[in-house]
Amino acid sequence: MTLTPHPSPSRVTTATGLELTFRPLASADIEVVMALEKQVQSHPWRRSSYDDCLTGRHHCWLAEHRGQLVGFVVVTWAAGDAELLNIAVAPNRQRQGVGQALLDLMLAQVKPFASMVFLEVRVSNHSAIAFYEREQFFELGQRPNYYPTARGREDALILARQL
Ligand SMILES: CC(C)(COP(=O)(O)OP(=O)(O)OC[C@H]1O[C@@H](n2cnc3c(N)ncnc32)[C@H](O)[C@@H]1OP(=O)(O)O)[C@@H](O)C(=O)NCCC(=O)NCCS
Repeated sequence: MTLTPHPSPSRVTTATGLELTFRPLASADIEVVMALEKQVQSHPWRRSSYDDCLTGRHHCWLAEHRGQLVGFVVVTWAAGDAELLNIAVAPNRQRQGVGQALLDLMLAQVKPFASMVFLEVRVSNHSAIAFYEREQFFELGQRPNYYPTARGREDALILARQL
């Protein structure tokens, strides 16, 4: 299903006073988005995963502060369920409410199409797990050896949240 985004650009001010503008990913953004992700992910996505956001297979929104990319979120949905595929905030903008604002935006966008949101997260990613728990996600189970690591594999937690 094709997304009909909220009127763009949309703006929020986070609880810490950071002014954010949101807009959907465009082709020209992909290099900058990949550069941000490389700063915060041990195994960042390939370009083809971002290309899928331009075809309507996935949906990606960027958060900018004064014209600078500070974070992004990627989601997909089908048959009443949504999956949060990726979310990242630039290191110098973490703990300032950007992740929460991106999650709120994503939840508002998928709400017409889904009643549950699922995601996977590395068991070692304690900061993301704390973030999701604070945002009312709960643990559904685990996927053993789901993610590659520098030394082998690690399990994923499966989290979910009702909309
Ligand atoms: C997870 C991530 C997106 C959170 O983004 P953020 O903008 O820093 O999060 P927020 O500022 O909106 O945090 C909201 C709340 O989540 C919790 N939280 C966020 N980061 C946390 C951390 N490192 N440790 C503990 N709790 C944390 C806190 O309760 C926080 O509220 P508080 O700052 O008032 O205490 C960010 O840490 C990130 O980009 N991580 C690297 C990429 C990643 O792991 N993505 C998830 C893949 S599954």
